[in-house]
Amino acid sequence: MDWIISEYGEADIITFATPIYNGNITHYLQKMTKRFLPTALPWLVEDGETTRHPSRYERKPQKSILIATAGFPDHQAFNIAKALFPLSLHITLPASQIIADPDGVIYLQDFIDAVHKAAKLLVQREAINPSLVEKLNVQYSAEMKQMIREQANKYFEANLEG
Ligand SMILES: Cc1cc2nc3c(=O)[nH]c(=O)nc-3n(C[C@H](O)[C@H](O)[C@H](O)COP(=O)(O)O)c2cc1C
Repeated sequence: MDWIISEYGEADIITFATPIYNGNITHYLQKMTKRFLPTALPWLVEDGETTRHPSRYERKPQKSILIATAGFPDHQAFNIAKALFPLSLHITLPASQIIADPDGVIYLQDFIDAVHKAAKLLVQREAINPSLVEKLNVQYSAEMKQMIREQANKYFEANLEG
């Protein structure tokens, strides 16, 4: 954590990335975020209608990003991850396995372009508008979800015994 915490203070952009396991972020990321606790002081201060710890360090304004992938095609897969990182820009890809398929890459081209565009804007410290944010969080139609389920089940039928 020594180098992570010192780099963290210097960084302009912090990126957290995780696959969704059992509806949650990985334990690696949970452990890391818990170990950030010493960067806060123990005092409880009022913040709007809630309470927070003040930062131990003078911090420059930073942006943070949460990148998450899931196996299910439903956006609900990210509910916990998004709630844990409410201040981050969310980039979420359900049924991320489809990106390994050339047809999936074509289907996700809008998402891929949006990620590149958002990355450039972040580095240039420019605002990311709500329509771009929407493209960064893939939502499949009911038909597409059904196709994803069928494709996955076909794969399991062909590759699992019994
Ligand atoms: C132990 C385990 C638990 C998982 N739980 C979920 C889950 O609750 N919801 C979901 O949508 N995907 C789940 N997945 C699928 C992963 O999210 C998916 O494989 C991952 O995002 C793809 O990234 P990877 O290639 O790094 O595994 C799970 C995968 C594993 C191995």
